[in-house]
Amino acid sequence: MRALVLSRYGGPEHTALTDVPQPSPRTGELLVRVHAAGLNPVDFKTRAGALKIIHNYPLPIVMGNELSGVVEAVGPGVMRFAKGDRVFARVNKDIMGAFAEYAVVHEDHAARMPTSLDFPSAAAVPLAALTALQALRDELRLSADERIFIPGATGGVGTFAIQIAKLLGAHVATTASPRGEALVKRLGADVVIDYSRERFEYKLSGYDCAFDLLGGDTLTRLWSVLKPGGRVVSIAGMPEPVTARKDLGRGSGLAALFWVASLPTRLRAARHGLSYRYLFMHPSGADLAYLASLIDAKKLEVVIDRVFSFSEAKEAMAYLETGHAKGKVVLAMS
Ligand SMILES: NC(=O)c1ccc[n+]([C@@H]2O[C@H](COP(=O)([O-])OP(=O)(O)OC[C@H]3O[C@@H](n4cnc5c(N)ncnc54)[C@H](OP(=O)(O)O)[C@@H]3O)[C@@H](O)[C@H]2O)c1
Repeated sequence: MRALVLSRYGGPEHTALTDVPQPSPRTGELLVRVHAAGLNPVDFKTRAGALKIIHNYPLPIVMGNELSGVVEAVGPGVMRFAKGDRVFARVNKDIMGAFAEYAVVHEDHAARMPTSLDFPSAAAVPLAALTALQALRDELRLSADERIFIPGATGGVGTFAIQIAKLLGAHVATTASPRGEALVKRLGADVVIDYSRERFEYKLSGYDCAFDLLGGDTLTRLWSVLKPGGRVVSIAGMPEPVTARKDLGRGSGLAALFWVASLPTRLRAARHGLSYRYLFMHPSGADLAYLASLIDAKKLEVVIDRVFSFSEAKEAMAYLETGHAKGKVVLAMS
């Protein structure tokens, strides 16, 4: 089968569309004929080797972290799916493999595709929407009538996060360039600050929590936006000890490393009387089924920036890597 294979950590020249053996489903796994696969920043970060401390993949490896497609075969013990089912999934992080004609997915990580979506739109959902849901519902425990700041919400995660925060009943402020302003307003943002002209910390104050999608300079400036007792969850800042233990299931070595690396961030949070948590999302078929129900009920919109053909996989990755996608970038396999 055809697949996008990473042969060495580094630049895009170390990835290529190559013929590789088709995988076989083991116990509890589905073999999926992939119709579309979503792209995410984790793909180019993995390619560059930036995540090796967390996932040091043996190379060569088939890349890709989320997909939609049709179940071609099931492994022993699969209970909930059968050949012919249309499914979508954030694939196992230890294996990847979505940028291929066939991929294996554990049945616990898969759900039936929303009936109202085509394959490219369904492939855009799993990783970004699960991240937004798990951050807002499970980590921030966002409740109705709270005020949340979600800086930089025009990309893959943010377009879902605005909508989920509104579904939870919150007031949402975000930042966007003029190219993204109409989009975030349509998705429900109550306050939009043009980050190319204004500094958000001069405009916002007294917020209950923040969902940080940008890290870096944005994270260093957002503390003053929150009121004492406020909560910050980041997916782009510095991982901390809970990340190592709870999200990655790792021991004290990685937790200690993250403790040191995140110390300046946690001290800044403490000085402002705030809590700080870095989240790594996890695959979940149950959460995906819930998201599918929201999509079919027309409560959650999937925003697609651009669909590329499978043969344009490297161009698609380069496009996402510019950092300016509005919504999701997707590969259509057929
Ligand atoms: N920890 C986890 O489990 C997890 C899961 C998913 C994603 N992530 C991380 O979360 C981050 C966001 O992911 P994503 O998929 O949403 O990325 P994305 O789709 O590439 O985000 C692109 C968007 O970010 C906006 N943006 C860039 N810089 C900005 C700034 N300074 N202020 C405001 N907006 C800005 C861009 O708008 P303009 O073009 O208008 O600037 C663009 O629309 C990435 O770092 C990703 O690796 C982590």
